[in-house]
Amino acid sequence: MDILKGKHIVLGVTGSIAAYKSAMIARLLIKSGAEVQVVITPAGKEFITPLTLSTLTRNPVISEFFSNRDGSWNSHVDLGLWADAMLIAPCTASTLGKMASGVADNMLITTYYSMKAPVFIAPAMDLDMYQHPVTQRNMETLRSIGNIIIEPASGELASQLIGKGRMQEPEVIVSALEEYFSRQAQFSKKKVLITAGPTYEAIDPVRFIGNYSTGKMGFALAEECALRGADVTLIAGPVNLQTRHPGINRIDVKSAQQMYDAAMEHFPHSDAAILCAAVADFTPAVTSDTKIKRKGEMTLTLKPNPDIAASLGAIKRPDQRMVGFALETDNEQNNAQDKLERKNLDFIVLNSLRDEGAGFGYDTNKVTLIDRNGSEELPLQSKKDVAKAIITKLSGLLFCIAFMFMPLKTQAQELNPTLSINTSKIQGTDKDVFTSLESAVKELLMNQAWTDYHFTEKERIQCNFNLIVNKYDAQSGKMECELTVQSSRPVYGSGYNTTVFNFRDVAVDFTYTEQDRIEYTSGITPDNNLTAILAYYSLLIIGLDFDTMSPNGGTDILRQAENIAASSQSLGGGWRSFDSKANRYTIINDYMNGTLSSFRQLQYDYHRKGLDDMSSNADRGRATITESLNLLSEAYQAKSTSALPTLFTEIKKDELINIYSSGISSERSKVVELLSRINPSLSNDWSTIMTQ
Ligand code: PMT
Repeated sequence: MDILKGKHIVLGVTGSIAAYKSAMIARLLIKSGAEVQVVITPAGKEFITPLTLSTLTRNPVISEFFSNRDGSWNSHVDLGLWADAMLIAPCTASTLGKMASGVADNMLITTYYSMKAPVFIAPAMDLDMYQHPVTQRNMETLRSIGNIIIEPASGELASQLIGKGRMQEPEVIVSALEEYFSRQAQFSKKKVLITAGPTYEAIDPVRFIGNYSTGKMGFALAEECALRGADVTLIAGPVNLQTRHPGINRIDVKSAQQMYDAAMEHFPHSDAAILCAAVADFTPAVTSDTKIKRKGEMTLTLKPNPDIAASLGAIKRPDQRMVGFALETDNEQNNAQDKLERKNLDFIVLNSLRDEGAGFGYDTNKVTLIDRNGSEELPLQSKKDVAKAIITKLSGLLFCIAFMFMPLKTQAQELNPTLSINTSKIQGTDKDVFTSLESAVKELLMNQAWTDYHFTEKERIQCNFNLIVNKYDAQSGKMECELTVQSSRPVYGSGYNTTVFNFRDVAVDFTYTEQDRIEYTSGITPDNNLTAILAYYSLLIIGLDFDTMSPNGGTDILRQAENIAASSQSLGGGWRSFDSKANRYTIINDYMNGTLSSFRQLQYDYHRKGLDDMSSNADRGRATITESLNLLSEAYQAKSTSALPTLFTEIKKDELINIYSSGISSERSKVVELLSRINPSLSNDWSTIMTQ
């Protein structure tokens, strides 16, 4: 295994009879390709000579704060930054104690305190010393701050006693490092979001609705992901646990709503989410500001909390993976399978309260991993080992994605377009050129990989491109056209598609001659207008679609459209800021301009939070849409000259009239007032909302 190749290892050696084995450790590390710097304590030098270690490592051994050779300072700070790992083997009880209690009286301990890399400790001592509560407490202290203890073996000790305390063999120690680094490589550069623990739903300032979750399972998952090199965001309910690994960014929350908000914020930037929290499904409809007094019977009205897993599942991108948990008391398999589907999970971890030692609070768990291909029942084991099994399964899925996401430039990707070219205005022209144009445009729209995300067949975005040719010069191939571009997205839980973009571009001029190919290279501004326009609208459609799925989720893609608009100024009409307030240039500029940030947020709030919710609860969905229209009003106020709010009302006219065909009249009149202000030309349509 060459996982240690090129790694910088600080090997700490202390005064134990096992110090002779450090020569073997140094040799194995060097053989694996690592660079080794030995730091030895004064007592260590009594057991092994620095000459042996420096010869093996081809590096002078450091022992003192100043070099004996030239009096220069041996910088423990620099060593702390240089190292990829520090291994202290053997580590005596005395060094363990100094490390745990801050006695930095030799070079090895100061190096330990400056260490930025993981620290491995291989204790070596006599049986009684090892068992002593002080040693055990010191080891626990070091473990609790993230140091990795390589447990000593049992066997005959230097004292001739038999028991635990003998330092592990060099091969075992080096393989512990290898295992660490190979696990770390697995999830390197991956971002994982984890929810853990219970949520507390406040009844009044002193009481809450909660549950028995301790967070142990979720924290074990976070630790395991971090050990494998992931950047972990751990959203934790109220628990009594510490996080050890520096790769874990912990966000503490109390209520389900707070957990939901944090999860929605971080999910778009995550590669995977593991929903392990025991989230309260209901919360008090009203929270009292003061302690509720005991006065006879009391009824508590509860309202449903957001379902975090289902909400993330609904905005999950094709490149993301999600793992959920199911805690069941009966009909376990069926309930878990139902949750797998309903919450759009990749697999679900079922634990049953019927299994002894499983579920809340225990250090153990007994789970079954269920996906769409079947299930795997695991034995009762520590939550740490359960976490390992879950993360191993997840890593397989993430690896598949990495494989799928290799650029597949010739494969149909994000768009599912229909294309029509209308030539009725240019009678009598040879039509072959348009047949050729149609297939060239289709080829680009359907086969271009616009992003790095791989869309499955059914995830592609429905869109229409309709080109009307107004003028055509057969000699030069110059065409003057209009292009209508329209895109839609499915509404969750219904067969209905909602229009996201619908725009008529009247300044589409370009030159095309038969058999020309239209080719677009990502990041390079096209030098002909037809490619620029098609690339611009394709990226715009994809970016808008991503925005509807997560707040500002389309930023990276929309920036590419913005760049095309900015660098295509000389290509023809429609690209210049002064041409019109509703041309390509101003559309993308207004959209990406921070002034209209509420309009971007509207895309998500209206579609995901509002429309998608309507199929399960029409009243709640409509109320959310009404709230989201405030963002439209804000955008209008922020820049009343922008065409975007008006365009939105045009696109959504029929849908809005339909949505408000029911609902309370005060809500309707508020909406009519708002829509009439933003788009007075449709006042008659808006007034029908009141008369339906
Ligand atoms: O914390 P410990 O003491 O170690 O205990 C671990 C555990 C038992 C809490 C854990 O293993 C577990 O089973 N967690 C999920 C418990 C749960 O809420 O299950 P559920 O079947 O009600 O929910 C199904 C899934 O939806 C879960 O992934 C849950 O996180 C998620 N959910 C549920 C409700 C909600 N409003 N939002 C959610 O995200």
